[in-house]
Amino acid sequence: MCGIVGYLGPNQAAPVLLSKLRCLEYRGYDSAGVAVIEAGRLNVIKAVGKLANLETLLQKERPMATVGIGHTRWATHGSPTDENAHPHINANGTLAVVHNGIIENYAELKAELTARGYVFRSDTDTEVAAHLLSYELEKAPTDVLRAIIRVVAQMRGAYALGIVSQHHPDRIYAVNHHYSLTVGLGEKESFLASDSTAVRQFTNKIIRLEQSEIAEITTDGVRLFAFDGNERTRDPISVESNAYKIDKEGFKHFLLKEIHEQPLVLRQTLSKYLISADQPVNFNVESFAPGLSAMYGVSLSDDQVRSIDRIQIVACGTAYHAGLVGKYVIEELCGIPVEVDIASEVRGRKLLVNNRTLTIAVSQSGETADTLAAINEAIESGSFTLGITNRPDSHLATLTPNLIVTECGIEVSVAATKTYLAQLVSFYLLAIYLAEKRGSISDQYARELKRGLSHVPAVIEQVLAREEAYRRESLKLADAHDVVFIGRGFNYPTALEGALKLKELSYIHASGYAAGELKHGPIAVLDSSVPVITVLVPGRVYEKTLSNAQESRARNARMVAIAVDGDESAPSTFDYIFRIPPIDEILSPMVTVVPMQLMSYFVADFLGKDVDQPRNLAKSVTVE
Ligand code: G6P
Repeated sequence: MCGIVGYLGPNQAAPVLLSKLRCLEYRGYDSAGVAVIEAGRLNVIKAVGKLANLETLLQKERPMATVGIGHTRWATHGSPTDENAHPHINANGTLAVVHNGIIENYAELKAELTARGYVFRSDTDTEVAAHLLSYELEKAPTDVLRAIIRVVAQMRGAYALGIVSQHHPDRIYAVNHHYSLTVGLGEKESFLASDSTAVRQFTNKIIRLEQSEIAEITTDGVRLFAFDGNERTRDPISVESNAYKIDKEGFKHFLLKEIHEQPLVLRQTLSKYLISADQPVNFNVESFAPGLSAMYGVSLSDDQVRSIDRIQIVACGTAYHAGLVGKYVIEELCGIPVEVDIASEVRGRKLLVNNRTLTIAVSQSGETADTLAAINEAIESGSFTLGITNRPDSHLATLTPNLIVTECGIEVSVAATKTYLAQLVSFYLLAIYLAEKRGSISDQYARELKRGLSHVPAVIEQVLAREEAYRRESLKLADAHDVVFIGRGFNYPTALEGALKLKELSYIHASGYAAGELKHGPIAVLDSSVPVITVLVPGRVYEKTLSNAQESRARNARMVAIAVDGDESAPSTFDYIFRIPPIDEILSPMVTVVPMQLMSYFVADFLGKDVDQPRNLAKSVTVE
């Protein structure tokens, strides 16, 4: 969702800005633009749709400029149009602003500015920042910093800004207010980006902006200021400069590649925290998040672990489904009650946590606004906190002293797949870790679980090897308008995730239900046109799930199962079966979801959908 970039240095700015915008493409956007200062004049070029449209314009215009800012926009205020695309300019076109986040009091500010004679050309909240800055600059045209300080004092919300002015072509200003912005420092050149990956392709010397901070960026470096104008000093930190590669490695889509990477990312995440089945899970690995004081891992003392009497999980989207699996596993192994909340539902409500609660925020990006707001609330209430993220350089990583980092590499496809699996394995490891420390499972069972976990990547490899059979079965679902997914127990969240994947990718309406709930309402929608996809794994809830499937069959639904090899009951109930190798019920969510991911992929690709960047979706949802 929305990305900011900036460049100033000896090179042509437009190609650098475009290359950095490409790095941010995966976050999701619906228009893009740049503002460069060309021969002393601001030149704004923007285009609705994919970056290729902006690239075509840039190739035509070939702006000669060595300073500029750029943006990918995911529409919040106003539809995706050229007018609403960023950058936004002031009335006389001398300064340009790009913006992530939301200016909450924009309507109020817009009314004031309109009364002063400012004319708005877009429906965005961003344009308010451009006109307000222009208004404040009229008071002291040379002091941009003071003007920005007066602007941020008037704006409410969580946001990040990038600003260029043709009167000051030697600098870019950046503002970070409860967002993420990184400045990269090269040899006589500087970079700005809302995601450090977009900077790391050019330099490994970075400064992450702290909250409520203003940066004045020149080719010589960066000066940092608090919102009260006080200057702050901070040394840059060195990060791995490995270039961010966008490479499908022969796969048709990133999504398919990322589904296939799942055994690898599970092995990587497991090997970091699990040495062998005979040793306790160890989260205190010797690695540090770049620029963070906290070590990755869990630094709770044994007494603190024993004092926890409740766990609260907060997350959004796919990460929320991972949290639901976490609940089932932690409650089973540790006997600690676990609540899972959709992070946006924590807003405006009392989060009942205290100093005996462990609050866990799960977020692939570590930047999801609602999840960050929820974890902040937990911190204020004195709860222990822990983050599960794929981004050790994220905002989430700065908020919590305990961090489980999933080892997935960048996930480019907007729909989460490999990071979901890695979040699941993190929950299994965490549950075993807590159970070992609290003595709630036997050593023997802990060993069995750890052996089982280590075997999961090989089972997923066997599942992936069946891809062609899954493809054939999947295409039978492509004509459906509504699809129902059901599962019980550990696989109730799998049903939710299966439905989410199918609708995200193929735009076919799909809902997931606890299998036992089907007869309490959803069964009314069933007829011969509706496929019911049942997750059926031998174990405690097998018979009951099968009975719920039978209820659907009696309503003539098209019956589909995810069932294990050798399950002889399945063929008499289901029209088609996605077979998976046998797997323990407790570990099965890591396996049962994979055929569903592939099913969603094959259907979406068959229907010609934009698999890697589904319409309206963003990877990193940085607004509430
Ligand atoms: C967006 C993405 C989802 C993701 C959710 C939470 O909606 O499209 O794939 O699950 O955000 O993101 P997070 O980065 O917090 O895991």
